[in-house]
Amino acid sequence: MAVTSSSERGSWNSKLGFILAAAGSAVGLGNIWGFPTKVATEGGGAYLVIYLLCTFLIGFPVMVAELSIGRKSGKNPVGAFKALSSNKFFPLVGLWGVICGVMILSFYTVIAGWAFGYAFEEIFYYLGWDAAAAWLTDTGNGPKNALIASVFMLGTIKIITGGVSNGIEKATKTMMPMLIGIIVIMIGYVLTQPGASEGVKEYLLPDFSRINAGLIFSAMGQAFFSLSLGMGALITYGSYLSKKENIPQAAAFVTLADVGIAFLAGLMIIPAMYVAQAAGIEIFVGDQLASSTDLVFQILPALFHTIGGAVGLILGVVFFLLLSIAALTSTISLLEVPVAFVIDEYSVPRKKAAYGVGLGILVISIIISFNPALIGTFDSIFNNLGLPIGGLLMCIFVGFVWKTDSALSEMEHGFEGIKQTLFAKVWPVFIWIICPAAIAYNIISNFL
Ligand code: PFF
Repeated sequence: MAVTSSSERGSWNSKLGFILAAAGSAVGLGNIWGFPTKVATEGGGAYLVIYLLCTFLIGFPVMVAELSIGRKSGKNPVGAFKALSSNKFFPLVGLWGVICGVMILSFYTVIAGWAFGYAFEEIFYYLGWDAAAAWLTDTGNGPKNALIASVFMLGTIKIITGGVSNGIEKATKTMMPMLIGIIVIMIGYVLTQPGASEGVKEYLLPDFSRINAGLIFSAMGQAFFSLSLGMGALITYGSYLSKKENIPQAAAFVTLADVGIAFLAGLMIIPAMYVAQAAGIEIFVGDQLASSTDLVFQILPALFHTIGGAVGLILGVVFFLLLSIAALTSTISLLEVPVAFVIDEYSVPRKKAAYGVGLGILVISIIISFNPALIGTFDSIFNNLGLPIGGLLMCIFVGFVWKTDSALSEMEHGFEGIKQTLFAKVWPVFIWIICPAAIAYNIISNFL
């Protein structure tokens, strides 16, 4: 078996560093682009309610399971399943997670590249460099997409080569507070504009008649994606976690941070759409709201241009930088999963692993850059379906192979006496029955 020196693996420097890194993984395009636009197009407040239920009742218990597997084994998703049982099937679940990570990262980088490009588009528009601005807004332009995706991927690789505490932890510790500050400022601005109150109503007043199997499946997939669950990102991040830390508490912080930021992003973007409408920008196509890509990459820039002047410029640049920062703290974790796999299982030094794996994934990103229609297909297979299936199998592993009692014993480090708490009685029931049944039911009912 391959042996990896602990200096190659690394560990978090502090509890706050871990929480910010894990929250950074969770908070990404899924929160600021995916969540608000899904709320807007798929069910308004009703979607929000179902999403919150999925996050707390399914996502949180699975996150605790993933972190426990990671910390106990001290390994990447494949090595972790190998270390905790002799069952030959579950390492394949870990491998499926690594594959999902690779494929999600390959299209995620392209979307992140669009966001990053738009930050410059806002500047070029302001300067009157219309041709350059138009070039950046063309999401179907293959060479442009490939160029910016490459910049984004190289940035991600660079951070990963710095290692766990010096690379990932340091980068996310600076970026996360910036991100929160930017969102709060943007909400403050948007909510004072004409039309905003209609958006707030649409967002916060649920119409339960809109709930159906499709909405629930979508909200569950969104919860998994947003919390970075089901592919072993949190097994990997958990493997760098000190035995001193309290796992359920850390998972609760990360879940709350993720939900909190998704909620705030909704409070910024949905009213912003109605502000755009009040400013004369078309946000409906027929009786349907514009698609998610159009909402963020056409309607919002149109709004910033309508506002115009220095205010429009600043809001536009700041918004797209915000989206880019959130994406970067997530691409770091998406890349760390296959990199940790290569470091642990093949004893490859971190730098080589980061460049080798990162550049390999970039090749897929470049193919997607030229065929953006692939994003939808990849998203359906590896995200909407892949992550819940991964989460379901992890519940089965923790519930019936490794056993919830072993997981609770691992949680005793950092949470003495946990076995005597209510959590120790309730959490196993979620892992044995509630989460797997809800996930399986959802997957099946969506297909039927
Ligand atoms: N949670 C990220 C987002 O909401 O954008 C996406 C993601 C990152 C999914 C890392 C999975 C993952 F392992």
